[in-house]
Amino acid sequence: MNNATHIAIIMDGNGRWAELQDMKRVKGHEAGANVVREITTYCSNHKDIERLTLYAFSTENWKRPRLEVEFLMKLLERYLKKELPEYLKNNIRFEPIGDLRAFSKSLQKTISDVKEKTTHCDGLVQSLALNYGSQDEILRGVNKIKNCEYDITQEMLSNALDCKHNVDLLIRTGGDHRLSNFLLWQSAYAELFFCDTLFPDFTTNELEKILKKFKKIERRFGGLK
Ligand code: FPP
Repeated sequence: MNNATHIAIIMDGNGRWAELQDMKRVKGHEAGANVVREITTYCSNHKDIERLTLYAFSTENWKRPRLEVEFLMKLLERYLKKELPEYLKNNIRFEPIGDLRAFSKSLQKTISDVKEKTTHCDGLVQSLALNYGSQDEILRGVNKIKNCEYDITQEMLSNALDCKHNVDLLIRTGGDHRLSNFLLWQSAYAELFFCDTLFPDFTTNELEKILKKFKKIERRFGGLK
C-alpha cells in the first residue's frame, strides 16, 4: 500500500465552469479559490499527506487578458490575507514556489508575510505555484549552480529547484491530459490522474476516491517488483 505524501494538482477548468453557467470566467477562479480552501483543509487533516502543491498561476498565464490577470492577482492577495488565520489554526506552512519578482510589491509582501508567519507550522506544507513554470524553475536552478567547479549532480540540481520534493500523485482536473510545464522534474515517477471534473466542482470526496486508487498501485520506480 502506498501513501501519497506529496500531492500536486493542476487546477484546470475554472473558466469553462463559469462560462457553462453564463458567468464571467473570473467567477470560476473565485469558485476555484473556495475549492483550494476545502482541499487544503482536507489534506491538513489527513495523517499521510505532508505536502500539497497547487498550480495557481503559470509563467504562461500572463498571456491571458489583462483584466483576468489583474483579477487573479487580487484574488490571490485577498485569499492569502484571509487564509492566514486558517493556516495558523491548522498548523499549515505556506511555501510559495515560482519567480515571485514579477508580482506587484504589495502581492510580494503579502506572500512573504504569510510565508514568514507560518514558518513555525509543522503540519501540512501548502505550496502555491505562482508565476511558476518547470522550465523556468530548472533554468533558474542551473544558473544558481553553474559556476560550481565540479560536474552538477542530480542532487545538486534538485536542491537548487524551488520545489525540492518528488511528487507522488499528480492530479489534473478539467479533462485535458497534459502537464502544462508543472513540476516536470519532480514528477519523474509521479502517478498521474486526469479527471473530467472542472476544478470548481472538484470535491474532497473525489480526492478521497483517487487516494484509494493510488494506494493500490504498485510503484516500481523503474525496478522490479
Ligand atoms: C486554470 O483554469 C486555472 C488557473 C489559470 C488559475 C487557478 C486559480 C485558482 C484555482 C484560483 C485562485 C487560487 C488561489 C489559491 C486563490 P482555466 O481558467 O484555464 O480554465 P479553462 O481551461 O476552463 O479556461
